Amino acid sequence: MRCGVFDSGIGGLTVTAHLLNAGFFEEIIYYGDTARVPYGNRNESTIIRYGLEGLEFLKNFNIDFLVVACNSVSAVALSELQREAPFPVVGVIEAGVRGVLTLSKDSPLLLIGTRATIGSKAYQKRLNQIGFKRVIAVPTPLFVPLVEEGIWDGKIVEEVFKLYFGKLPRQEIGGIILGCTHYPFLAPPIARYFPSARLVHSGEEIVRLLRDKFYLKPKYRTKLQIYASDNVEQVREMATRWLSHLSS
Ligand code: DGL
Repeated sequence: MRCGVFDSGIGGLTVTAHLLNAGFFEEIIYYGDTARVPYGNRNESTIIRYGLEGLEFLKNFNIDFLVVACNSVSAVALSELQREAPFPVVGVIEAGVRGVLTLSKDSPLLLIGTRATIGSKAYQKRLNQIGFKRVIAVPTPLFVPLVEEGIWDGKIVEEVFKLYFGKLPRQEIGGIILGCTHYPFLAPPIARYFPSARLVHSGEEIVRLLRDKFYLKPKYRTKLQIYASDNVEQVREMATRWLSHLSS
């Protein structure tokens, strides 16, 4: 089986790292739309168009499955992609929501993501449906360039945390959905900042969802091919660094 992974850029490698580890697929074809990243500040119709174009690109590789690693695309364009694709298309929103099912509904839940993801209310609607009444949703777009610059901890990160999280009930937050591909890189300082919170990662949850819903089993030493709409060599080089960090 061959799986496509689509993202607006290289952030989807955080999800890919978990898929490689899971061994469900013989091959993963990763496509990052690096020419047009970030998607997270764009409007819905643009994200839908970009998502459909990403799907068209990946259709050339005879994939059997598509994982939309990008939260922004999963939040606003998943049904359009599912309608156009001749294979199953899975997004990270459903997966992330499954990840909080075991958490207490009495504590506030923090949701962080791009403006597009938070603005779409895709997570919030599902979380409210399953009984989470206290969802604090905060767009945290500065985290994306920080991660891409390799700033994953330290003073600048702390300052940005103050900006976004300074007024939150820090000790009370029971869970945090890392609703953006890049955020797992910031997981250690986020976990320190919110000491009682369980962090939910899209990559871990998508692996659980594929196993539980599609009955996929670890069978392969998965090969990875990486494509990008711009700077493909640079993306491949960065992928090697990121994947080795993510698997360490
Ligand atoms: N991949 C995007 C997401 O998960 C983050 C980067 C962007 O804004 O394109 O929402």
